[in-house]
Amino acid sequence: MHEPFAAVDIIRDKRDGRALTPEQIDWVVDAYTRDVVSEEQMAALAMAVFLRGMDTAETARWTGAMIDSGERLALHVSRPTVDKHSTGGVGDKITLPLAPLVATCGAAVPQLSGRGLGHTGGTLDKLESIPGWRAQLSARAIGRQLEEIGAVVCAATDTLAPADRKLYALRDVTSTVESVPLIASSIMSKKIAEGAGGLVLDVKVGSGAFMASLDEARVLAKTLVDIGTAHGLPTRALLTDMSTPLGAAVGNAVEVAEAVDVLRGGGPDDVVALTLALAREMLALAGHGDVDPGPVLASGEAYETWCRMISAQGGDPDAPLPKPRHVHVVEAPASGVLTTLDARAVGVAAWRLGAGRARKEDPVQAAAGVRCLAKPGERVEAGTPLLELHTDSPDAVPSALAALDGGIEVSDRAPEREPWPSTTVLDTVRS
Ligand code: URA
Repeated sequence: MHEPFAAVDIIRDKRDGRALTPEQIDWVVDAYTRDVVSEEQMAALAMAVFLRGMDTAETARWTGAMIDSGERLALHVSRPTVDKHSTGGVGDKITLPLAPLVATCGAAVPQLSGRGLGHTGGTLDKLESIPGWRAQLSARAIGRQLEEIGAVVCAATDTLAPADRKLYALRDVTSTVESVPLIASSIMSKKIAEGAGGLVLDVKVGSGAFMASLDEARVLAKTLVDIGTAHGLPTRALLTDMSTPLGAAVGNAVEVAEAVDVLRGGGPDDVVALTLALAREMLALAGHGDVDPGPVLASGEAYETWCRMISAQGGDPDAPLPKPRHVHVVEAPASGVLTTLDARAVGVAAWRLGAGRARKEDPVQAAAGVRCLAKPGERVEAGTPLLELHTDSPDAVPSALAALDGGIEVSDRAPEREPWPSTTVLDTVRS
């Protein structure tokens, strides 16, 4: 086949700071998917993009080229469809109560999710701690479940944005993950290909997130929303706190248990608040802005939808969740106010206890994780339990404790306040 461009010219253009043309972008992404552009060449181009950036038009076109590398999921559902994506955080189990809640309120939620890599957990890993639950569904089964129940959380099919899968693996080993245009096009290519009618993004800010500062997170949020707009997908982004874990549970089965508490009308305030904030945005995009999800969640109605959603994928919602073989208690180092419980430190600890994986093919422990027994802002007494470390491998405890080093601070001078964060939503970006 005659190739209209040479990768080396495209790499040079970006290296020297020039914007790529739509034709160059379409070709390079397609040729990389066909193995015509080599891994070395794409690594060089990814680094050039990392260093030089891409403007809005280039990023939107790059996203389109990645969508076109695979198939779009055709959703034939009678209700309006709307999806949510989180840029990833510690203790972020929001999808679990959110999908059945929004479905109970009248929209359909197709949530094609991933597995965890590094210190942030993966939704599929969490759900797989439910005995019998299956992540793999065919496109037909996804459509059927969406029509009948209104909510599906499952693994993305292999045909969805295959260029992204290849490029993400390459970025992972070439230190080119943390680039706004590359992150934004990666996320949006999968979400647009999934075919929902609206998208709400939860862009995390803080130590446990990709973006440590609010300004950086705003840039990412605006880029994501601009891509959605350029592709005709109504998109909104909330910027939410990830300086400390969300809720009390971090891990797999422990997070499922916490999500079930929320669905039964209980659960930690911050998880409930964020679930409702995201549900309101999703319902507004789906044309159900008049439905208040608060009373629906409090009534336990969404729990019924959860049970149907889990059963439809082979899971037993009533089965006991796995329990850890070993629990190690971390005590408060002093009396005073807990001023810091760092999200990244807790996330890395949970990961080292076995909740996460270092390589794609590693297994995870369903029962591993951390339970946080106090929130920043709360008063604690020296020697009282602050964290529970759950694991099946007691020899993992020392390295989990090392991860927590410096991540917990108690001050005898800080004033006690409402447990942080009483409001997790820091800002909103709309198209
Ligand atoms: N999530 C993705 O899907 N892609 C990225 O590049 C980063 C986070």
